[in-house]
Amino acid sequence: MTTLGIDVGASGIKGALVSLEKGQLSGERYRVPTPHPATPTAMAEAFAEIVRFFDYKGPVGCGFPSIVKNGIACSAANIDSSWIGTDVRAVFGDACKCPVFVTNDADAAGVAEMRFGRGRNEQGLVLLITIGTGLGSALFYNGVLIPNTELGHVLWKNGKAAEQWCSSGARSRLKISRKEWADRFNEYLLHLELLFSPDLFILGGGESKLFEQFKDQLHTTARIVPAKLLNNAGIIGAASFAFENQ
Ligand code: BGC
Repeated sequence: MTTLGIDVGASGIKGALVSLEKGQLSGERYRVPTPHPATPTAMAEAFAEIVRFFDYKGPVGCGFPSIVKNGIACSAANIDSSWIGTDVRAVFGDACKCPVFVTNDADAAGVAEMRFGRGRNEQGLVLLITIGTGLGSALFYNGVLIPNTELGHVLWKNGKAAEQWCSSGARSRLKISRKEWADRFNEYLLHLELLFSPDLFILGGGESKLFEQFKDQLHTTARIVPAKLLNNAGIIGAASFAFENQ
């Protein structure tokens, strides 16, 4: 069976048809830049453009970059603050005329990695961190997700969220080298390790494609691996979420 998954990010909105038996994209990805300001009206139009591109009718899964409870956005770190309290299912569903099922983007990516990627058969505590404009997190214990953990918002030394110090968004904004960024990111992982004692860290998001370039700077007791599904994990997880909740 094929379901449309859409990964809504702060810089791009990406969709693809997903084969859920295989946990793979069944065709090309289509991406539109996230409008700025990233308001509900502007983002709904971009979301609907993706659904139209695939000429799709059916349940649509959506990974969304905020705390999501019962389809409602409860935070807005890298999107317009008018999203807070907005029913994402209704706004996107009205725009694309399909039922939309919404979950946090990092939770979606985590579920896909646990099912089809590097987290397969992993027991114990697994922490997936997506590295992009912000830092997303998905926490699993014996394969069960504890949703909306938001560990990119751990308060850091400067009193701001950790994602403002060591996401890839922060790296470009602060104009720091990848080497300096990787040292910062390692410090962040060590802090998470102190708090959660994970058995495994999985690194996802856009930056995970460059894992080979920075892996030697990461040193935790827990194993650290790049996401197998790379940046497609969010799309695949979103499609699974729709399929299971339709
Ligand atoms: C948001 C999270 C999201 C992450 C990655 C953070 O700023 O608060 O909900 O998972 O960015 O997009």
